[in-house]
Amino acid sequence: MRENALMATVEILRTDITTLAVDAVVNAANSSLAGGGGVDRAIHRAAGPTLDVECRTLRQTRYRAGLATGAAVATSAGRMPAKWVIHTVGPIWDGSGHQDGLLANCYRHSIAVADEVGAYSIAFPCISAGVYGYPIDRASRVAVTTCRQARPDIVNRIILVAYDDRAEKALQAAMAES
Ligand code: APR
Repeated sequence: MRENALMATVEILRTDITTLAVDAVVNAANSSLAGGGGVDRAIHRAAGPTLDVECRTLRQTRYRAGLATGAAVATSAGRMPAKWVIHTVGPIWDGSGHQDGLLANCYRHSIAVADEVGAYSIAFPCISAGVYGYPIDRASRVAVTTCRQARPDIVNRIILVAYDDRAEKALQAAMAES
């Protein structure tokens, strides 16, 4: 394993993730990989039709049963400035408080896939904190803790993207307390 001389930096950016010229953009997908709302829709629209074709092919080959919660898979990024999209499926909040490990797996496995493809930089939306109903403060703590604990081989820059004030404040609070 190549010793990553420097630990990956973790930073917060307030922006539209589709505009970032990073190596890998993470998509908060659903198991069908067929696109949807929220950041999933934004990424599919910004990437263009090639992304839909790649996702459909993945469903017909490697992921006939769909992408499992916590799993991650890479495709190209189509017309976006990024090189790859890494699709991951977050848990749907069920109020139990027992899903943080599944959510953490989204970050861990996406970073592992980024290492596999050779991505040096990766940007995450607040996975599960939208349609999937995860409380933004809890989702942000999982994101920050997991990314700070990561020891990737290749990835040296991790960006946590806030799309609105609530997310930005929650991510900043999580960074301050971790
Ligand atoms: N850039 C960055 N972040 C964004 C963007 C964007 N362009 N659009 C939305 N977000 C943020 C939301 O504000 C939220 O904080 O992404 C976070 C995740 O929200 P969702 O996209 O709703 O994702 P999630 O809660 O994981 O639900 C996934 O929703 O869109 C469907 O197909 C998707 O079924 C899946 C489910």
